[in-house]
Amino acid sequence: MDFSELITRRQSVREYSSRPVEPEKLEKLVEAVRLAPSASNSQPWKLIFVDQPELREAVARATFSPLVRFNAFALQAPLIAVLTLERPKRITQLGGRIKHKEYPLIDIGVAAAHFCLQATALGLGTCMIGWFQEQTIKDLLEIPEKTGIGLLISLGYSEAPLREKVRKPAGRMSAFNGYSGEPGEAKLTGLTIEE
Ligand SMILES: Cc1cc2nc3c(=O)[nH]c(=O)nc-3n(C[C@H](O)[C@H](O)[C@H](O)COP(=O)(O)O)c2cc1C
Repeated sequence: MDFSELITRRQSVREYSSRPVEPEKLEKLVEAVRLAPSASNSQPWKLIFVDQPELREAVARATFSPLVRFNAFALQAPLIAVLTLERPKRITQLGGRIKHKEYPLIDIGVAAAHFCLQATALGLGTCMIGWFQEQTIKDLLEIPEKTGIGLLISLGYSEAPLREKVRKPAGRMSAFNGYSGEPGEAKLTGLTIEE
């Protein structure tokens, strides 16, 4: 699979089969996160796989409530990965304060993208889950008080068909030489973008 196909095939998967994920594939996912870039190479994460059935169910249940049920699909996933948000290096903390940037959150996003793209290449489905009860999951997994949780990622095999991507057109999300510059797509393809 070339990279363009890989990014097209990656989609948020919200239905899973119970087929377990092979340990070799989990090793590759660890490596994908391990090699992710981060501000000052801080690597402000730890990747925790939750596959023990009762624990996994409890973690899944901490992503939805009777009123807000959109993450109830997490119950189906044979595995939930938790990306913790560790305190970054001092230099990154200082840089973030000076530049008003949440570098560790950016880093977690990059690491999660590595994870999801590697999973796709391995024939696995993923969904990043940013809506969860953080303290409940921290208690369940005995995550230290000073450590946060960046994202959860559901993981497993799925028969879900590939969906059409819902995205802004290229001409509206890219530009050359200034925010309101020539739309990227027009410059790249010579086509005029409809307003
Ligand atoms: C930071 C982040 C948090 C997300 N949180 C959730 C979530 O809690 N529940 C969910 O179903 N999808 C979640 N998603 C998935 C997005 O809804 C999805 O990526 C987006 O709609 C685009 O669809 P696609 O991933 O299928 O291309 C999240 C994605 C990101 C990047």
